[in-house]
Amino acid sequence: MESIQAVKGMNDILPGQIEWWQRVEETARRVMEDFGYREIRTPAMEKLELFARGIGDSTDIVEKEMYVLEDSKGEKLALRPEATASVVRAFIQHKLHADPLMQKFYAIGPMFRHERPQKGRYRQFHQIDVEAFGMDDPMLDAEIIYMLRIFLERVGLSGVVLHINSLGCPECRKTYRKVLQDFLEKDAETLCPDCQRRRLTNPLRTFDCKVERCREALEGAPLLLESICGACSDHFERVKASLYALDTPFVINPRMVRGLDYYMRTTFEVITDRLGAQNAVGGGGRYNGLVKDLGGPDLPGIGFAIGMERLILLLQQEREESRRSPKIFIAALDDAARQKGFLLTQQFRNAGIETEMDYEGRSLKSQMRRADKFSARHVLILGEEELARGEIQLRDMTDKSQKNLSLETVVEAMKGIYKQ
Ligand code: HAM
Repeated sequence: MESIQAVKGMNDILPGQIEWWQRVEETARRVMEDFGYREIRTPAMEKLELFARGIGDSTDIVEKEMYVLEDSKGEKLALRPEATASVVRAFIQHKLHADPLMQKFYAIGPMFRHERPQKGRYRQFHQIDVEAFGMDDPMLDAEIIYMLRIFLERVGLSGVVLHINSLGCPECRKTYRKVLQDFLEKDAETLCPDCQRRRLTNPLRTFDCKVERCREALEGAPLLLESICGACSDHFERVKASLYALDTPFVINPRMVRGLDYYMRTTFEVITDRLGAQNAVGGGGRYNGLVKDLGGPDLPGIGFAIGMERLILLLQQEREESRRSPKIFIAALDDAARQKGFLLTQQFRNAGIETEMDYEGRSLKSQMRRADKFSARHVLILGEEELARGEIQLRDMTDKSQKNLSLETVVEAMKGIYKQ
């Protein structure tokens, strides 16, 4: 009988892997609690309306990515695509705003989005989520960003960049919305169907589009950050000043709009270039109108969430990289390739790069095993086909990515990679 597989994009976490998760969670708890945050757990399923109202009807998450179901009474429910709306709901429902010790929360758990699965993007994924209510001071924005940085440092992640932006207040956005709509009008026909719709319903969302012609249309677009009002601009300046004071490096990214509609003023993301298209390890921002919009008192809020799968992938990648020193193994698949490989091996060594190759004509599989034992960072694979095309295949042993390089320039290319 055919065996039953897990749902696509939803993963088992097995012993051997789970230790990473436990270590990350333990560090998160310790850091968050040092900063005065307390754990909260909310249900994985909520009324659909909570997310529609909270995240925004015209966001990709609500429009396309939610797992929606109807119970036997006809009530529409959804698996949570994020934690913020749920934490805000619980904050209001239990009147936690009345208790000064109940203003800062963290939550750890699974979220669900029906996206196309790929490396770093899943349909069930996990977040470490943090929310703080009641404080509008820009110092808190800097503090929460600082906490994110300290957590990532303590958990051992390096090589990420903090992007920050200000999305202004609803007033700033009202004026800007029209400006952006007008700017996009001349290219309206060439925009992808999604952006043609977004232009009218939620033009800021067009900045999130990955389609090349939409990106081109947005080149030179007026930026919201350049037109925010005096009070928002002052708030942003003070966030930056506090980040400087906390020695927390950042870059300002005026094109970062975030995928959820509740944000205003400060937004931020932690970006990596080592996970392909999925470049955000975490993100968040201020959401001053949300508590009121969901039926609570008019209290400000700010928070962020870290994607645990992405964080752990990066940590594992880093561990692999440090295990593998910059060494090359050349795998040659026939006699002619071996001749060429022999020459390349000496050229690499001459260029100061430790290099090994197998001269005994073993199978590719067995050569790859030797490369692994040798802890090679890269394997260069040369067979009949590559030789005929004047190319060589480069396999990165840390992330298993592959690409072809020109045989003529491969020595220079590898020197370039190792010099970085
Ligand atoms: P978000 O940017 O949608 O923000 O998600 C936060 C993080 O969750 C992302 O940076 C990413 O690491 C991870 N993530 C999102 N979607 C996926 C996916 N399909 N597969 C794997 N990882 C994913 C929020 O969710 C906001 N609620 C954050 C927040 C809290 N803002 C204020 N408070």
